[in-house]
Amino acid sequence: MKGFASDNWAGTHPKIMEALIQANSGHEPAYGNDSYTTRAQEVFRKIFGEQSTTYFVYNGTGANILALDALTNSFNSVICSEHAHVHVDECGGLEKHTSAKLIAIPSANGKLYPGDLKNFVKAARYPHQSVPAVITISQSTEPGTVYQLHEIEALATLAHEHGLYLHVDGARIANAAASLGVDFKTMITDTGVDVLSFGGTKNGLMFGEAVVFLKPGLEKHFELYRKQGMQLASKMRFIAAQFMALLDDDLWLKNAAHSNKMAQKLKDELLKFNRIEISQPVESNGVWAILPDDLARKMQENGFFYPWDESKKEYRLMCSWDTTVEDIERLVQSI
Ligand SMILES: Cc1ncc(COP(=O)(O)O)c(C=O)c1O
Repeated sequence: MKGFASDNWAGTHPKIMEALIQANSGHEPAYGNDSYTTRAQEVFRKIFGEQSTTYFVYNGTGANILALDALTNSFNSVICSEHAHVHVDECGGLEKHTSAKLIAIPSANGKLYPGDLKNFVKAARYPHQSVPAVITISQSTEPGTVYQLHEIEALATLAHEHGLYLHVDGARIANAAASLGVDFKTMITDTGVDVLSFGGTKNGLMFGEAVVFLKPGLEKHFELYRKQGMQLASKMRFIAAQFMALLDDDLWLKNAAHSNKMAQKLKDELLKFNRIEISQPVESNGVWAILPDDLARKMQENGFFYPWDESKKEYRLMCSWDTTVEDIERLVQSI
């Protein structure tokens, strides 16, 4: 039975599976020296601009930590929201690999705003405090909200005014782009983002994410960090082939628009029950809801989902590329 636990509980999209099978013939050079990787990198260059450089990795944690590794020294700090995946769900991976310090800012909706950051972007008491080097945001955010373009631009401006970089954790970048109705270049390159972790797994890939450097030079030692960070795939053609299929014929957009639409449908259905409260704006492919215990238990039997904040009885219900109206109806009928 399909549930609402996470968009990475869904399987591989058939077109991605087809691309994997097609890539599975003959020999190709290893470690990214294959023709698939070269072509996929070219596709990313066309999307994000001639100045950009893209590297493929296995997973989102690897993409984030390696991107931030490339932007920091051991004496630096990275500013993020209290909900940031890199802060709460990556097991101290950033601290282990980079020695950089994370500064987590309270955020009710997962977003960071320049006004909340102005006391954090400058190091005081040189040389005693960690030196801020990066602001990292997630698009869409962990609680499912989406930054508007002007909000990203304002953070990029703040970062650059203080000599910091802006990194975007785009594990769900496609859902954000579909939600805003914009292309990736408009949302990322043109707003001044420096480095992006581009998600594939949550949008139909079997596995695979990309790190996109938007400004030349920032990628200088990335290949070495990727190898040290154990994310250099020897059979990289299989990540590249999946990305080519995802970016071909707007499959990324179809998948993301579908999961976003299913979240809207789920929200509309849940709002029909007066014991249920929607606790975050539904702007991408997840619904955050406050559920009484009895209802939550019953619903979880008909499509599993996780608690988000148990103290508030708040739950997260995620839709994916393969969520159907029937899946939602089954869940709703159980209420
Ligand atoms: C916002 C965000 N960033 C990064 C990741 C990392 O993905 P992975 O599990 O592939 O390491 C996730 C996964 O849940 C996520 O939700």
